[in-house]
Amino acid sequence: MTSQAQELLRSEFNRWAKEGWAEAMERHHFRITEKAIRRMELGEDERILELGCGDGWACRLLAKLLGPRSRIVGLDISDEMIRLARRKSEGIENVRYLWGPASKIDCADNYFTRVLSVESFYYYPDQAAVLDELLRVTMRMGRIYLLMCIFAENPDSKRWVERLQVPVHVRSAAEYRALLESRGWVEVETEQFDPDPDSPPETQAHDRALLVSARKPDSPVHLSQSS
Ligand SMILES: C[S@@+](CC[C@H](N)C(=O)[O-])C[C@H]1O[C@@H](n2cnc3c(N)ncnc32)[C@H](O)[C@@H]1O
Repeated sequence: MTSQAQELLRSEFNRWAKEGWAEAMERHHFRITEKAIRRMELGEDERILELGCGDGWACRLLAKLLGPRSRIVGLDISDEMIRLARRKSEGIENVRYLWGPASKIDCADNYFTRVLSVESFYYYPDQAAVLDELLRVTMRMGRIYLLMCIFAENPDSKRWVERLQVPVHVRSAAEYRALLESRGWVEVETEQFDPDPDSPPETQAHDRALLVSARKPDSPVHLSQSS
């Protein structure tokens, strides 16, 4: 771990892991994650990074959906989440986990075909640095998918942010688009998921999310230093 901000995230999400929040997050994030996965147009041979994987439920879901030829890597800053993820994924050959911050991914250049991040990107202290690191580890023409319920257009964001013990970014879809483009990503797209009006009120709040996706360009990107 390098910075104080990262240490704060590690200890906060270690607390969440110990208090059993990983299972509740799976219940809350499952529907929007399924929708995002449908947008990813996945084949059997994908190499997927899940950034901020928590206890790894979405990694296991991807491994099951894609089968043994896929390679799934989950990364999280919380060592307790990673411990849970490894325990729950015992015996699944094509899933592995890395402990560390999203800004420093222990992996070869140009490796991943896709990156998925579920309800995690708004916590990253230096989002530009993470986007640069993703540009390094994603293969040419690979795509990233950042799914977030905390964003400026979501009226529920304010009350969620007030309850959190760590700082978060609350950006609009347009701001995310500008941020990704400024870090060299192309074909940046944003899509808002809205709750089904007939679904029960307790699930509605978890079904509104912003999906930001983008492609790595096919020629090298020359970037200025992030923040
Ligand atoms: C709200 S939880 C979501 C977990 C999981 N994706 C899910 O949907 O159930 C956010 C996760 O992001 C991780 N996280 C937060 N900041 C991070 C960072 N800078 N680098 C890597 N992971 C981070 C947390 O440890 C936590 O597991």
